[in-house]
Amino acid sequence: MLKLENVSYVVDGKRILTNLNMEFRENRKYVILGTNGAGKTSIANIIMGLEGYKPTEGRIYLDDEDITDLPVYERAKRGISFQWQEPVRFKGIKVSDYLKLGGKLKVSDEDVMRALSAVNLSPFLYMNRYVDDNLSGGERKRIELASLLLLKPRYVILDEPDSGIDIMSIDMIVNVIERLVSERSSVIVITHREEIAKRMDEGYLICSGVILMKGESDKLVEYYKEKCDRCDHINIPVNG
Ligand SMILES: Nc1ncnc2c1ncn2[C@@H]1O[C@H](COP(=O)(O)OP(=O)(O)O)[C@@H](O)[C@H]1O
Ligand SMILES: [Mg+2]
Repeated sequence: MLKLENVSYVVDGKRILTNLNMEFRENRKYVILGTNGAGKTSIANIIMGLEGYKPTEGRIYLDDEDITDLPVYERAKRGISFQWQEPVRFKGIKVSDYLKLGGKLKVSDEDVMRALSAVNLSPFLYMNRYVDDNLSGGERKRIELASLLLLKPRYVILDEPDSGIDIMSIDMIVNVIERLVSERSSVIVITHREEIAKRMDEGYLICSGVILMKGESDKLVEYYKEKCDRCDHINIPVNG
């Protein structure tokens, strides 16, 4: 289990996250739902341990190990991985080679082809392309999703997987998430879109760096639709 215990984060005197308690169990689909600026990416950065994102208070645990002070690569080694809101680019690396990097097990060409098909990219058209600016942001995001399918991490954090993507289908994203879960990963998807949120099992509704509500996705989405969609005090939580 991945766990945040009383995590707060203050930077330059600005309070970004306040007293977060979160639990992510094995083999589940979680959502962190909230409007823009709610603090969702900061939570992901803190879980990953990115430079400058150490909790001001509180601890993070993976199983019984305190990982609060571990650097990113140590967390990655323990099976926590992250799809950035802004997709990768690597000059001079072919898609097929990129997809063969990183995993513990040897990845075959067939595996690569299967993973590309799962994100709706034709293996024949994409295997020998380069992961650089000649691919659109949307294509690179799909390739990152394919790489997660091959990596099979214990925990995958997806930050706005549909953002910046032309005609990226939500069905495809949910399909990939379901495949990951069927391979025993847990997925934490960060989104401001109820269409994605409602297809997860459970999660957290975030506003202004605090947890407004936790529980089943349906419940979160219902509240979000009712209140947050027509909110006139964005990121200033009030009772009710
Ligand atoms: N390193 C930082 N320094 C200053 N402000 C930050 C930093 N990281 C995040 N913030 C601020 O925290 C708030 C939440 O940001 P973010 O976590 O990116 O929200 P979301 O992903 O929900 O849109 C924003 O007001 C943002 O400007
Ligand atoms: Mg964000």
